Amino acid sequence: MAKTIAVIGSQWGDEGKGKIIDYLATGADMVVRAQGGANAGHSVVIEGKRYSLHLIPSGVLNDNAVNIIGNGVVFDPPAFLAELDSLRADGVAADKIYISDRAHVVFPYHKLLDKLAEEARGANSIGTTLKGIGPCYMDKVERSGIRICDMLSAGFKEKLAGRIAAKNEIIVKLYGGEPLDADAVIAEYEAYAGRLAPYVRDTGIMVDEAISSGKTVLFEGAQGSMLDLDLGSYPYVTSSHPVSGGFAVGAGIGEGRIEEIIGITKAYTTRVGEGPMVTELLDGMGDLIRERGHEYGVTTGRPRRCGWFDGVVCRYTARINGTTGLALMLLDVLDEFDEINLCYAYEADGERLDYYPASLEKVSACRPVYKTIRGWKRDISAVTSWDELPAEAQAYVSEVEKICGVPVKFISVGPGREQTIVR
Ligand code: IMO
Ligand code: MG
Repeated sequence: MAKTIAVIGSQWGDEGKGKIIDYLATGADMVVRAQGGANAGHSVVIEGKRYSLHLIPSGVLNDNAVNIIGNGVVFDPPAFLAELDSLRADGVAADKIYISDRAHVVFPYHKLLDKLAEEARGANSIGTTLKGIGPCYMDKVERSGIRICDMLSAGFKEKLAGRIAAKNEIIVKLYGGEPLDADAVIAEYEAYAGRLAPYVRDTGIMVDEAISSGKTVLFEGAQGSMLDLDLGSYPYVTSSHPVSGGFAVGAGIGEGRIEEIIGITKAYTTRVGEGPMVTELLDGMGDLIRERGHEYGVTTGRPRRCGWFDGVVCRYTARINGTTGLALMLLDVLDEFDEINLCYAYEADGERLDYYPASLEKVSACRPVYKTIRGWKRDISAVTSWDELPAEAQAYVSEVEKICGVPVKFISVGPGREQTIVR
C-alpha cells in the first residue's frame, strides 16, 4: 500500500468514505481533512456502534492517528466542540486533533444567510445543508473572511463586530430578516477562541513533515466530485473542491505528493438536494434501495434520491481525480434484485454521450443507456473474499471496472470493518 493515499467521493457524496477511511486509518499515522466543513456526514461502525462525524477526521477513531483539519476547511467552532464532547462521552480519547490557523471560521451570520438565500431561491433552491458553507466560502473569496489565526489575535472582537454590522445590513435590508445580536455573538465566539487555542497549529508544516519522514498519511475526502464547485453539476454543488486537487491547496502541500487516489462509489447512485440525476429511480426499485441502504442523510436526515449505478459519472470523476483504484460500497444492498442495471452512456435527442455535459439543461434531457446484469439473489454480507462472491456479483464488479477504466480495489458488503473485501 502507498504511504500517501487520498480517499475521494466519486459521486454526489455519501458514498461511504467514512468506512474506507476508517479501514485505512487503522494503519495510518495521520488523517487530513482539507475542504468542506460540517456539511459532511461520515458514519463509521465499530463493533456494532455507529459514530457520526462531521468535522473531525475519521482517524479520531484510531487512537494512534494524528488528525488534521486543514486550511481549506471552513471551521465551525460549536459544531467541532459538540462533536469533540460527544466522542469523549463515548470513550474516544480524541486527543490528537489539530486545526489549521489558516482555516476560515463559520459564524452565525453564515448559517443565517445560507437559510435566507435558500428561501429566496424558492423553487430554484440548491438544497444546501444550511451549515453556512457557501456564505463562508463567499467571504473567503471576497477576502473579508475571518480565519482561525484572526480569532486568536488581539483585534478579533473589532473585526467580528465589523463583519456582523455589515452582515446585519444584508440580513435586514435585503432579506427582511432579524439582525444578529452582535454582543452575544462576540461573547460566544471569544469563549470558543479560548477553548480552541490549544488545537491550533500551522498544520501544513505537520503534514509536510509527516510525508517527508515516511509516515502513512491519509487524505480524507468529504462530499463528492460531482459536488465540486468547478467540475460538478453546477449550480447544484457545494462551494469547495472535493476532488483530489483540493487536497493540495486545502492541506498546503505540493500537488505530486499523494501517491494513491481511491475513489469511493456506491454500487448504485444517491443524491441529496436538487439537480438532475439521470439514473434516478422514482418507483419501488428506488424505495427498495433507500430502505435496504438506509439512505437517509447523516447531516440533515433527508431521504436520499436513489438510482442505478451511473458509469458516465464515475468515468468522469475517475478522470478528473486521477483515480488509481475504486472502492465499491454497499454491494450487499443489491442482494434482492432479480436484475441490476448499470448505466454506461447517456442518450439525448438521438445522440449518444459518453461524458457528463456541462449544461444542466442537456443533462436533464439525457436518458440512461443500461447494461443489465442478472442479480445474485443471495445474502453476501458475510462474504470476506473475492472467490466467495457469487459469479453474478463478480460480473457486476468487473462491469464497473470496464465502464470506469479503473480497478476495484475494495468491495464493501456491510457497515462493519470486517465486511470489507480487499483485492
Ligand atoms: P459527505 O461528506 C452529500 C450537498 C447538499 C447540497 C449541496 C450544497 O457526507 O459525503 P452545502 O451545504 O455544501 O452548501 O450544500 O451539496 N452536500 C452533500 N451531499 N454528502 C455530503 O457530504 C454533502 N455535503 C454537501 O446536499 O445539495
Ligand atoms: Mg453526507
